[in-house]
Amino acid sequence: MRTVALPDGETVPALGQGTWYMGERGGNAAREADALRLGVDLGMTLIDTAEMYANGGAEEVVARAVTGIRDKVFIVSKVLPQNASRSGVASACERSLKRLKTDMIDLYLLHWRGGYDLAETVGAFEVLKAAGKIRHWGVSNFDTDDMEELPDGCAANQVLYHPDSRGIEFDLLPWCARNGIPIMAYSPLGHHVSKLLSSSALQAVARRHGTTSAAVAIAWSLRSGNVISIPKAADQAHVRENARAGSIELSADDLAAIDAMHRPPKRKQPLDLL
Ligand SMILES: NC(=O)c1ccc[n+]([C@@H]2O[C@H](COP(=O)([O-])OP(=O)(O)OC[C@H]3O[C@@H](n4cnc5c(N)ncnc54)[C@H](OP(=O)(O)O)[C@@H]3O)[C@@H](O)[C@H]2O)c1
Repeated sequence: MRTVALPDGETVPALGQGTWYMGERGGNAAREADALRLGVDLGMTLIDTAEMYANGGAEEVVARAVTGIRDKVFIVSKVLPQNASRSGVASACERSLKRLKTDMIDLYLLHWRGGYDLAETVGAFEVLKAAGKIRHWGVSNFDTDDMEELPDGCAANQVLYHPDSRGIEFDLLPWCARNGIPIMAYSPLGHHVSKLLSSSALQAVARRHGTTSAAVAIAWSLRSGNVISIPKAADQAHVRENARAGSIELSADDLAAIDAMHRPPKRKQPLDLL
């Protein structure tokens, strides 16, 4: 498994797993946890979740998936902006720790920027870090100007990134690379997968590699070396396919074929959100 370095030098797998929409229905929890567990066995040991997903239900699925293997897994969770005050962050983190059945979150993100002062939220993250309740903090859905306002210490910025949404390549991706802060690519399959995965460019590249357009989209998201990609899959066949994407090397011809259909940005674009 390829790795990406966090600002303090710690490495994490470049390919992880998402959990949005897991935990919505109790009857699916065992299947979802089994899919995550398979992903961990295949090397996708970074799992992304959030207090928002299924109102905490996704964190409970993660707890189930990592039972007995917590020390092998790098858990990312997120606090909602309405909870991002000094006391709100502390209580939200306690609730997440309880649902995750762990005493420490590896990376804790502000889900998106809200009304609280960034210095206050970051101050609360630093208190949690000093107390050993989180190991790193970061942000999500932050554009370059938001990143410039952030106090030091951010370990990652999680944003939308896939071939039909690549505006970050103009400024945010290079800014983060210059500052040693990895990007976490969310919805690398486009979330509503059918449109992206039916791209004739992705399909042609997939044929050359004897793989699928999903695997090509994931390999594409990883190509800069400063991106962690977190596809979500509750289907075990999808999990196996996604894990294989970590070892696909796209050639210059492959990338040119993708660029021809999914154009790189020529100017600054507002940050795309889902
Ligand atoms: N920070 C944020 O604001 C934010 C926003 C969105 C997402 N996220 C995070 O990023 C993760 C990924 O994004 P996402 O869930 O929006 O979208 P995604 O990963 O792009 O797509 C998920 C969809 O793709 C399907 N899928 C997975 N692997 C596949 C494959 N190999 N072939 C065909 N279909 C496949 C899944 O189906 P099955 O489940 O049936 O396998 C699911 O329907 C989320 O789960 C979440 O953890 C963060």
